[in-house]
Amino acid sequence: MKKDILSETKEITNLVLEAKEKAYRETSFEPEPELTRKLKWPIECTVGPGLEGAIACESEIGYVNGSKGLLIYRGYDIFDLCAYSTFEEVSFLLLHGHLPTNNELKDYKNKLVRYRTLPETERLLMSFPVEEMSAMSSLRLGVNLMRQKQTYRDKKTAKSLSVPIAADEDSIPMETVPTGEKRPIYEFNKKLYRPPSNVDTDLLSAEDLESCYHLISGVACIAASIARLRTGHLPLENDLDLSHAANLLYMMTGRRPTPLEERIMDICLILHADHGMNASTFAAMVVASTLSDIYFSIGSGIAALNGPLHGGANEQVMRMLEEIGDVESVKPWFENAMISKKRIMGFGHRVYKAYDPRARVLGPLAKMLVKRNPEMKGLFYIANALEKEVISTLGKEKKIFPNVDFYSGIVYKAMEIDHDLFTPIFAVARVAGWTARILEYLKRNRIFRPRSIYVGPFNLEYIPIDKRDSH
Ligand code: SDX
Repeated sequence: MKKDILSETKEITNLVLEAKEKAYRETSFEPEPELTRKLKWPIECTVGPGLEGAIACESEIGYVNGSKGLLIYRGYDIFDLCAYSTFEEVSFLLLHGHLPTNNELKDYKNKLVRYRTLPETERLLMSFPVEEMSAMSSLRLGVNLMRQKQTYRDKKTAKSLSVPIAADEDSIPMETVPTGEKRPIYEFNKKLYRPPSNVDTDLLSAEDLESCYHLISGVACIAASIARLRTGHLPLENDLDLSHAANLLYMMTGRRPTPLEERIMDICLILHADHGMNASTFAAMVVASTLSDIYFSIGSGIAALNGPLHGGANEQVMRMLEEIGDVESVKPWFENAMISKKRIMGFGHRVYKAYDPRARVLGPLAKMLVKRNPEMKGLFYIANALEKEVISTLGKEKKIFPNVDFYSGIVYKAMEIDHDLFTPIFAVARVAGWTARILEYLKRNRIFRPRSIYVGPFNLEYIPIDKRDSH
């Protein structure tokens, strides 16, 4: 038995390393000079609608090489992290900037386990009709409920926020040309920002590492509890002895996962943990940059991730594959989709104009899993046939390739996870990147405040309502 487990998990490591070799064969990884260098603000960049191409900040947390299709977290290649690391290690790496020592990892894991217990939040969550709500709206609610009295700011004894050094950005005349502040507009005098010593709080403030750990652990447990509540079951107590990935699966399904399932979920969490300045990370950072607190910021990240153009695509992919029905129907379905200019879910990316490295790992994982699950085999073959159709047309014409959402749904469904939980699992992973980037940005905070180009009229005369002709 032990031998089988070892050979199965070894098989996964080999599968990841084969994906890495294939990626490195098909592309060479030189960092894009225009996206990997120290900046001297203000800078010039060509910006399209939806802030396409806009540079929002510098970061050491992660880099997405869109032209080559490669992804690194804090300097480590995503393939190596999937092959050798764990979500606990990777979330620590994203937050702290280095891989943990044995002691650091032990402490960190103990904190994550400690923060799994959320009795107040779970009790509050159960007072809502979770079984009738979308899983993502329940998740956003649950995360905001985590903030109940979780930060000293809610405590009566907390001091008011120290006054930011500079005036509010908006009070500066709008005509100012960005001066490229040498230092951030808001620099908190950290001493004032710390709660008074007599405030008994287990989370010192809503902006520090403890809140990040609390959220990384809590989002997983809340997502799992939502999975239970939606199917008419009570939430389960977490299993202190299980890893983050295994406990997530256990609390979701009520069954301790096999080592294979645990390893695959762990890799899925690593793959989804961070991805540059994507819509949900940007949303979370915009809220944090107003000095709102990190719980609200993560709630905003969840709200943005919910959209089918972003994290919600993996649920749509499964519906699309089920709608196609069989391999023979792929070609006619695709031709129709092209005629009707339909967006093919799970394909295309604002940054990747090459194969998404995460899909390079998820595809073979899906293939390995469906071998054990005949009913799923059909879906996988449909996905494979569709991938070939898309790459041979849109891939060539518009550099549209599979993205992270294309195979993740098949992996999760093969592990008997309900469609509705696919995007919450995405959030369970991405909360690591969201919190890490918020902490990093707050160190040199500057409220996000882009401009819009006014294209409306000027000098209109006000007409009283009784003089307005009805159009
Ligand atoms: C994620 O940003 C991130 O990093 C996100 C993410 C992360 O980890 O955080 O990677 C996770 O969100 C992955 C993406 C999941 N979404 C989907 O799979 C939904 C389907 N894909 C898209 O709608 C689209 O590709 C986007 C939204 C992902 C990106 O869209 P863009 O960059 O705005 O691209 P675009 O709309 O400018 O399209 C350029 C062209 C257009 O054709 P033309 O009008 O120029 O003729 O490509 C076409 C688009 O019609 N196109 C597609 C397509 N995606 C783009 N055509 C068919 N199917 C698609 N999926």
